[in-house]
Amino acid sequence: MLGESGILSEQMRIAVAGGTGTVGRRLVAALVRDGHDARTLSRHASEYPVDLTTGAGLDAALAGCEAVIDASNGPPTPESRAVLVEGSRRLLAAEQRAGVAHHVCVSIVGIDDVPMAYYRIKLEQERVVEAGEIPWTIVRSTQFHDLIGSLLSAAARVLILPAARARFQPVDVTEAAEAIASVACTPPRGARVTVAGPEVHELRSLGRLWREATGRRTLEVPIPLPGKLGRALRDGRLTTAEPDVRGQVTFASWLAKSPRRAPRK
Ligand SMILES: NC(=O)c1ccc[n+]([C@@H]2O[C@H](COP(=O)([O-])OP(=O)(O)OC[C@H]3O[C@@H](n4cnc5c(N)ncnc54)[C@H](OP(=O)(O)O)[C@@H]3O)[C@@H](O)[C@H]2O)c1
Repeated sequence: MLGESGILSEQMRIAVAGGTGTVGRRLVAALVRDGHDARTLSRHASEYPVDLTTGAGLDAALAGCEAVIDASNGPPTPESRAVLVEGSRRLLAAEQRAGVAHHVCVSIVGIDDVPMAYYRIKLEQERVVEAGEIPWTIVRSTQFHDLIGSLLSAAARVLILPAARARFQPVDVTEAAEAIASVACTPPRGARVTVAGPEVHELRSLGRLWREATGRRTLEVPIPLPGKLGRALRDGRLTTAEPDVRGQVTFASWLAKSPRRAPRK
């Protein structure tokens, strides 16, 4: 229900599909902190288990919800289509049955310009949302610091620091979640909102910052980026100069603030 401020009713019931994930759990925390009734939906959620690949559990989980944030994800393989594309269709159909007024889809900055199979699936997901019956907002974010950290950590297991010239603008996942949560508490825009980090860096500089912070011994290995994909990444197509919301937390300060990223003994 719309209030005078244009903000939906003060305390809202909002379902977060993928509410146990990297951004999903921060979304639930931000909504609860702001006094909303946030439901965590995922296959392993204790109260509202759902499976987007079958639709199981969705009707019960969405009963009485005013908004739904879809922060689900699949593996970075063609199988993610079952969660992101077919899953969105099932979720939107269940939202229609439940009378949900706003569907918020979490997506990624630059996916139209970077030829990767996973990004084509994300674009398809966006199209399903745009063509659906439920009023929507798509929030496109840049990569979370956590994703860059995991990538560097995986490479460090084989003692490599990937010195690629791909450009990223990573954002703190809590800041991204706060921006997405506040979008869900305002009327649907029928448009995209972008969220990005404060700085653009090549992967090799992020790697050096990570190595300095973690003390891990790695060998800097130049990684060539061939073809259209390489050009798009070098050209910074996953970054944006004028995001609607710009996070404050740099990759270096993210590294400094969490003991999980401290050097391994
Ligand atoms: N990671 C990034 O840097 C980044 C940046 C920008 C945008 N995004 C977008 O943000 C979204 C969330 O990404 P994330 O990194 O937070 O994902 P994630 O950590 O991998 O979490 C995925 C979530 O989806 C749930 N899930 C997976 N399969 C499911 C299914 N069949 N049915 C119901 N729930 C299912 C998982 O829980 P269960 O396993 O319990 O089902 C989990 O809660 C994605 O759409 C992604 O494209 C991510």
